[in-house]
Amino acid sequence: MCGIVGILGTKPVAADIVDALRRLEYRGYDSAGIATLENGKIGRRRAPGKLRNLEDRLRESPLDGLAGIGHTRWATHGAPTEGNAHPHMVGDVVIVHNGIIENFAELKQELIADGATFETQTDTEVVAQLVARARAGGMSPREAVRTTLARLEGAFALAIMFRDEPDLLIGARKGAPLAVGHGEGQMFIGSDAMALAPFTNRITYLEDGDWVALTRRSMELYDVEGRQTVRPMSFSQVSSNLVDKGNHRHFMAKEIAEQPEVVGHTLAEYVDFAERKIRLPDKLRFDFAKLDRLTITACGTAAYAGLVAKYWFERFARLPVEVDIASEFRYREAPLPKNGLAIVISQSGETADTLAALRYCKSQGQHTLAIVNVPESTIAREAEIVFRTYAGPEIGVASTKAFTCQLTVLACLAIGAARQRGAISAEKENELVSALVEAPRHMAEILKQEKHVADIAKQISHARDVLFLGRGINYPIALEGALKLKEISYIHAEGYAAGELKHGPIALIDETVPVIVIAPRDELYEKTVSNMEEVAARGGRIVLLTEADAAGAAHDRFERISIPHANPFISPLLYAVPVQLLAYHAAVIIGTDVDQPRNLAKSVTVE
Ligand code: G6P
Repeated sequence: MCGIVGILGTKPVAADIVDALRRLEYRGYDSAGIATLENGKIGRRRAPGKLRNLEDRLRESPLDGLAGIGHTRWATHGAPTEGNAHPHMVGDVVIVHNGIIENFAELKQELIADGATFETQTDTEVVAQLVARARAGGMSPREAVRTTLARLEGAFALAIMFRDEPDLLIGARKGAPLAVGHGEGQMFIGSDAMALAPFTNRITYLEDGDWVALTRRSMELYDVEGRQTVRPMSFSQVSSNLVDKGNHRHFMAKEIAEQPEVVGHTLAEYVDFAERKIRLPDKLRFDFAKLDRLTITACGTAAYAGLVAKYWFERFARLPVEVDIASEFRYREAPLPKNGLAIVISQSGETADTLAALRYCKSQGQHTLAIVNVPESTIAREAEIVFRTYAGPEIGVASTKAFTCQLTVLACLAIGAARQRGAISAEKENELVSALVEAPRHMAEILKQEKHVADIAKQISHARDVLFLGRGINYPIALEGALKLKEISYIHAEGYAAGELKHGPIALIDETVPVIVIAPRDELYEKTVSNMEEVAARGGRIVLLTEADAAGAAHDRFERISIPHANPFISPLLYAVPVQLLAYHAAVIIGTDVDQPRNLAKSVTVE
């Protein structure tokens, strides 16, 4: 998603703006731009594609202004061309924007009727036009922004500068995140604290509906009602070191490899290793024993973590769970039980639909629990209680280590809930926790097979369609495997519950369709194997993921990836790894942009 940076500096700011934009690259983008104020003029450089293209432009014709704004754009309205890239300029106004102005079409019509001409296909230009018109009509910059904001619908963040006001930077937030960074005689604005980390760790997060007028030495903040107000300044823990790939070719490869370690870190937060028990924080304001139902919402990979959790909570805690993708949940006005618990899951903590689902649940009197990886994110700040995943920064757009850390937290919560509800004995808790703490070791074993998985990925890389089959607790892993493969290799892939195969997808099977079968030795193993035989009988090319000691003549006929023998409870954590590796290596062979696949964004701040 788009990234925003703004600096009121004491030396030329262009290089710092590009550095900050680089720190926002992980969000996904397809063009970039920057504008600075210099001697009463606005200098602007923009380029489609990666930041290096913008850097080339800046090398050819540098910008020397001491104040500026920058942007990485993830196209929503209009193709990712130089012309549509931000910043957008109208008259004396220059602006960058993240999010969507939902009523832009009617505003545009109105402006055109009033004689305005538009240079871009973006919704953003409408904002620039409105502010510029208000200025031309004699309003002060603050007044012009205030009246414009009142007309905008949608979810957005904005940074705005004025040609003749080199000591003024205005930011606004409604829906999309925005943070102010306080420097010494300098001020910063950015989409997140990570972007600002090289400059300052003193951060003020804007609340929804806030707008802020910054000078180098002051901050005036107004809330949604237009009242001047104060928001606390916090000290961000985000490191100023740019996360690097280490010895890996891609961030995704590094993040897959880190899983034993980060799952271990996450376990260390929630498990009492000596007692083999789950540690739930005392500050929980609800009692799992009193809950009738749990509502889990999330998007993408995080939603699949929620789906795995449904099996865990229902089986072990005997707690009914409803899981829904947040984009559907937020609008369907689901009735929720009184004093129920809603869990939202999000790596970034900024996903617009997940945030809306959280707010809906709060409005319905639910207790809210967020499982997030970015502790300073909006979702983390708005939820009643936060269970962090300790995955560290995840840069690859396709989520890997955040997913297994989400699973880890959810497994701990499910066991904790089961104990509070009296649904499992102390011995059972011991057994499950003992299984869980073994997960990092098993994951490390699986990673040793990377070369073998890469060989299989080579065969898959020629396919047009791939099916992933799983049952029970590993049905969501089939969905996740298919999502990983399609998002980074662009091979069409579908995940199915193995039992559902004969209700349609089996029609697709022929010798050109690889079928990845996820089959741990659990109580459903024989059933999954039967489904696999149905595929084999129709010439399907099977890749079987099962335990090393799962013997049987049938298996020798197929490509096989061996997974260590473990308690089936933790199998989703283990089987997630080979499906990630398959997708990664298929993408590398095909030669796609693994870390920033086309059209995708890491942090999806629009709905
Ligand atoms: C995007 C990312 C996915 C992620 C999803 C939810 O689509 O590309 O990897 O699973 O958003 O993101 P979240 O930050 O809420 O986990």
